Amino acid sequence: MIKVTIDDIEIEVEEGTTIMNAARMIGGDVVPPAMCYYSSLPGTGGKCRTCLVEIAAGSTKDPRPMPKLMVSCSTMVQDGMIVKNRTSEKVIENRGAVVEFLLINHPLDCPVCDQAGECDLQDLGFSHGKEGSRYEEEKRTFEPIDIGENIKLHMNRCILCYRCVHVADQLTDKRVHGALHRGDHTEISTYIEKAVENDFSGNMIDVCPVGALTDRSARFKSRVWFLKPMNASCECTKCSGKAVVWMFGKQMYRVTTRQDEYGEVEVKDGKPEWICNECRFERKDLAQWTIEGPRHISRNSVVSQGHYEKPNPLKNNTKNIE
Ligand code: SF4
Ligand code: FES
Repeated sequence: MIKVTIDDIEIEVEEGTTIMNAARMIGGDVVPPAMCYYSSLPGTGGKCRTCLVEIAAGSTKDPRPMPKLMVSCSTMVQDGMIVKNRTSEKVIENRGAVVEFLLINHPLDCPVCDQAGECDLQDLGFSHGKEGSRYEEEKRTFEPIDIGENIKLHMNRCILCYRCVHVADQLTDKRVHGALHRGDHTEISTYIEKAVENDFSGNMIDVCPVGALTDRSARFKSRVWFLKPMNASCECTKCSGKAVVWMFGKQMYRVTTRQDEYGEVEVKDGKPEWICNECRFERKDLAQWTIEGPRHISRNSVVSQGHYEKPNPLKNNTKNIE
């Protein structure tokens, strides 16, 4: 085991642990935000730069500070390393610049975007964004396209985090989806707009940190904070059958994976509980599910601030869903 200190909190972790994962073991505000890293998708990270941290001391052997900010999702901890996240002015300043950079092409269409309320970029803009933008050029624009029967791709909103490409690569057979071109011409696309019809392709919607990939069966039906999330399960032969169903009264508007406080799919017994397209898009009848109870949304989301939550008098720092 090796020792690392993050924001003045010391923790022992196994060798080979990234700074991000060491911070997640501590939890709370110490954890840097992540827009491209996704722990259940190996190979993700290193693209968006939102997780930059300052390394005030490299290790016990070589305690010199690192000259530049480092990406915490891809940098391994060293014994005696001292990391600053929220305690570093440099980090806060640079994260503001990263948000400005991510918003160069991303439209400010939150009022009509289905991701509003659970969008990582919206949250990041709120916590680290600067007022106004210095960008005066035209944003790049695309027409929204259907990729397959179930998914709508709106490239204007894409921040090129490549999470969906890793889903296509790792969860589906016969991949037809990926990134075309390079640099600021890069776009997420299916090969000659072929449909993405693999059983697990719907998980791309859940991993997309912004509203670039949305569920065609739920698009524009309701703002997410008007829906009531419930843990539900079904007998499914393709996936775990464990999902969250989003209800409006008795009507089911959408089905998603169960996600943790980082917006990542929950992992049980070492296995991520991805759901199949049948559970996500075709089982929209309450009779097809066993409702286990209200879903506590533990991530920073307007859903958890809504009227489904009320303070628990026994615990000040947690909330119950009615
Ligand atoms: S479509 Fe979404 S998940 Fe895919 S690269 Fe763009 S932002 Fe990332
Ligand atoms: S989360 Fe680390 S670079 Fe994107």
